[in-house]
Amino acid sequence: MTAVPARTGEYAIEAAGIGKWFGPVRALDGVTVAARPGSVLGLLGHNGAGKTTLINVLATLCRPTEGTARVAGYDVVRQGREVRRRIALTGQFAAVDEQISGRDNLVLVARLRGAGRRAALHRAAELLEMFDLTGAADRPVRGYSGGMRRRLDLAAGMTGRPEVLFLDEPTTGLDPAARLATWAIVEDLVRGGTTVVLTTQYLDEADRLADTIAVLADGRVVATGAPPDLQARVGGRTAPARLPGPAAVRGAARALRTEGLGPEYAPRGGVLDAPLTGPRDLAVVARTLDAQVSGDYELTVTAPTLDDVYLSLIGPAARAAAPAARAEAP
Ligand SMILES: Nc1ncnc2c1ncn2[C@@H]1O[C@H](COP(=O)(O)OP(=O)(O)O)[C@@H](O)[C@H]1O
Ligand SMILES: [Mg+2]
Repeated sequence: MTAVPARTGEYAIEAAGIGKWFGPVRALDGVTVAARPGSVLGLLGHNGAGKTTLINVLATLCRPTEGTARVAGYDVVRQGREVRRRIALTGQFAAVDEQISGRDNLVLVARLRGAGRRAALHRAAELLEMFDLTGAADRPVRGYSGGMRRRLDLAAGMTGRPEVLFLDEPTTGLDPAARLATWAIVEDLVRGGTTVVLTTQYLDEADRLADTIAVLADGRVVATGAPPDLQARVGGRTAPARLPGPAAVRGAARALRTEGLGPEYAPRGGVLDAPLTGPRDLAVVARTLDAQVSGDYELTVTAPTLDDVYLSLIGPAARAAAPAARAEAP
């Protein structure tokens, strides 16, 4: 009997100096990330940044060229079997059988993982309930919406009760309601103790779900931190307002400053832009403008985009490189 090596570490994910070459292409370059059990690590980046490659290394689907990684306490290269027993991976394209029902899909996956028939049926029913698919359970999957397929795919990933769940762009291509439903499910799983590593191109998704965000660009981690730390470096939401003229801009700017908000403004352009840091700041801006401005004005809210993140973290060079990286996407 070969002894299973003991697990180590206080982290569910621990990767150090991961490099990966595909022939002449360096997909990952010295990537170091970590996640504690029961937390969410968000990998944020454009197409081509290296997100899927990193997930594949951590999920033992491809060997790193350099560096070491432990997942659920085991080395991804030397203890791949132990890692695979404790993880699940679901991707952007749901891997479910169209012709059979959602329930049959889940029973099939559970049985492939070695569950007996009764146990598989029981686990399928439990997962259908958990992922809000009970009503559609016995209909063929070909009639499911995109959001329902994604939920079924997630449910299939959870049949083996993984310690670590890898979600590669879990909401890409989903409509807003299905995105919200997916976020709620991820939050539920994390509450239940699962560690989640998810990739995303959406800043709001990383913000909402991740305890730690690693921003990837060209195979490198260009920033790591909790969402508020990154927000402090990148800047948060602002409320730009278009006002009737320079006098209105100056007057409104004065009034906002006395409210403790420090707006930027261009009087000649008729534009004033107030940073929103607290939850009530938008209401303060709206109230102040309403009291100050005679005539029509237009108030909007803008949030930073992934381009803004790259721009503030690595400067204009990254922004210039980004469209080329996007063009490589499948
Ligand atoms: N199997 C492969 N062969 C060659 N190049 C690859 C392969 N997989 C990924 N790449 C390249 O590695 C880089 C990172 O890709 P990927 O990890 O898929 O990024 P992301 O998931 O962030 O879009 C890209 O330049 C991509 O073209
Ligand atoms: Mg990818």
